[in-house]
Amino acid sequence: MTDNSDPNKIIASPTKTLFIDMLVKDIPLTRAIIDLVDNCVDGARRIRRDSNYDGLWVRLKVSRDRFTITDNCGGISVRLARQYAFRFGRPDDMEPTPHSVGQFGVGMKRAIFKLGTHFRIQSTTDSSYFVVDEDVEEWKSREEAHWTFRFDEVEENLEPAPPPAERGTKITVSSLHEAVSSAFGLDNYRGELRRELTTAHQRNMEKGLTIVLNNAPLTPHPLTLLQSDDLKPAYFTKDYNGRWPSPVKVKIYAGVSESSPPDAGWYVFCNDRMLLEHDQTSTTGWGEGRGTTIPKFHNQFARFRGFAFFDSDDASLLPWNTTKTGVDTDSPLFRGVRLEMIRLMRPVINFLNNLDAEKENGRDTGKPLTEAIQAAAEVRLAEVTLSNIFLSPDPTPPPPAPRTALIRYRKPVDEIEQVKQQLRVRSNKQVGEKTFEYFLEMECGEE
Ligand SMILES: Nc1ncnc2c1ncn2[C@@H]1O[C@H](COP(=O)(O)OP(=O)(O)O)[C@@H](O)[C@H]1O
Ligand SMILES: [Mg+2]
Repeated sequence: MTDNSDPNKIIASPTKTLFIDMLVKDIPLTRAIIDLVDNCVDGARRIRRDSNYDGLWVRLKVSRDRFTITDNCGGISVRLARQYAFRFGRPDDMEPTPHSVGQFGVGMKRAIFKLGTHFRIQSTTDSSYFVVDEDVEEWKSREEAHWTFRFDEVEENLEPAPPPAERGTKITVSSLHEAVSSAFGLDNYRGELRRELTTAHQRNMEKGLTIVLNNAPLTPHPLTLLQSDDLKPAYFTKDYNGRWPSPVKVKIYAGVSESSPPDAGWYVFCNDRMLLEHDQTSTTGWGEGRGTTIPKFHNQFARFRGFAFFDSDDASLLPWNTTKTGVDTDSPLFRGVRLEMIRLMRPVINFLNNLDAEKENGRDTGKPLTEAIQAAAEVRLAEVTLSNIFLSPDPTPPPPAPRTALIRYRKPVDEIEQVKQQLRVRSNKQVGEKTFEYFLEMECGEE
């Protein structure tokens, strides 16, 4: 637009092209797609405040020419669409979704632009319905003072209310970018997408949400720890006040599970979204105090598992980075909780060291730690008995060393040299020991 009415005015608004390029530059494709699934989960949370997602689903389809994501998670209302859902960035007066994953107000738009140049969004709630169908290239070339999209179809105050099964959203992106289209054609890429989706939405699937990629449902791997009467994981919980009235509720579990080096480490979640998976770095305390407080990770700790959950109604208080790919290690909240994680993991590390020592003691019986592991069962976190410290049996002390005494005597040097040669040893000390052992065996042996 050109505006020559005010000669002192200098135009500073970004071009759409620059804006879109910057928006999509730093986000990997898979992460952008996960953002769309995050939105479905936020929708699910709006309609199921108790977080029971039984019956709710998200279906994704990726192919060389098209991307679709469909859900039955309640839909986007026309009001939300008009005022907020299509805006870049969350306006300050926008009412937040309690406990949401979304926070910055860019996820949906960023994902669409990352994928391709034509999109269609269709959404139905309990009272409204809309369709927005847009060609991004055409939209980019449209000069306008305020960036807008248009409803192609819109209906409000629907009577009767659409049935719950029809309340949901479908996003289709076609005219995929070249790189996206070729990634979607690769088995390898589809496998990676499946794995990352499974990881990120592990907890939401455990709560009943079904996620399907190209007609095959994802299988969640429930989080478990070994537990028995004498082996109990450690548990810690605390509400960090944050900005009242939305505390950040922190829960930490630390214990042992099956021996598997790639799965060992810490798992960190914010509002049920997994941010760190089997972390074995200093971010979660490994090698703390240059290895004096907590050793660096190595395979001896292949049974270690720790889980840390941060939950808040106010997503902005959680220690995640903007792409939700990791924790914000500068966050004072995370730094404080990390110390608790270290405190909880120390006894587990001791246990694993003792378990290793026990394996190497050469005895066949009296291995209480090995036996405790064998007798324990994997239980889901919800079934863990809450103990504020990791409990395990005492290790057996090594058998006491026999009492010893020192013998000293003096002999002529040539005689010592003769015996040395005969015994094929080098030191006087060995001469003494070997002759003693010889006598003991020949004269005191039991026969
Ligand atoms: N599939 C969906 N179901 C329900 N709500 C959705 C869906 N997709 C997007 N939304 C809503 O649209 C809005 C914009 O989404 P987004 O651009 O990802 O920003 P953010 O999630 O950070 O608020 C959010 O309020 C989001 O919850
Ligand atoms: Mg979002």
